[in-house]
Amino acid sequence: MSRLDGFISRMHSQRAVLNHIKEASMIAPDGVILEIGLGNGRTYDHIRELFPDNRIIVFDRAIGSHPDSTPPEADLILGDIKETIAQFSGRDVAFAHADIGTAYPEKDAKTLTWLPQSIAAALKTGGVAASGLPLEHPELEPLPLPAGADPGRTYFYRKR
Ligand SMILES: C[S@@+](CC[C@H](N)C(=O)[O-])C[C@H]1O[C@@H](n2cnc3c(N)ncnc32)[C@H](O)[C@@H]1O
Repeated sequence: MSRLDGFISRMHSQRAVLNHIKEASMIAPDGVILEIGLGNGRTYDHIRELFPDNRIIVFDRAIGSHPDSTPPEADLILGDIKETIAQFSGRDVAFAHADIGTAYPEKDAKTLTWLPQSIAAALKTGGVAASGLPLEHPELEPLPLPAGADPGRTYFYRKR
């Protein structure tokens, strides 16, 4: 598969999981959402369209998003997510979306030393996570991917 096809598959998969979470009403309107990796702001923009009533807290090192999809300052946490996400431990988050994979195995291996437990600690029981990197953690139960999401492009979990 070419890198272009791989990218398209990742985008389709992200959207399929996000839309499924909305269609299956997996998040209460007052549930807090974490967007882990703002990047250009495309998935942030999609999430806020799907969940207009939910607070979305967004993490990145720095703002690199399009002005139309830049979160309000109060909802933006800048810095190394490895450090900044710690403040959400035990905060009963309803949904965490993480898109911080790099396709460089050695970098992703470092991220995976802290990301799964950070997300597990932030989520409430029954909260859901979608991630471009696998989140192996005893408290995170893998969920079946919805139609339109390709295995290996996105990973989907519920906190036990
Ligand atoms: C692939 S982009 C996210 C793209 C986004 N989902 C979108 O639709 O535009 C990943 C982002 O995560 C950020 N990132 C990755 N690891 C990080 C870390 N440890 N701390 C802070 N930001 C990080 C990068 O700066 C980058 O902007």
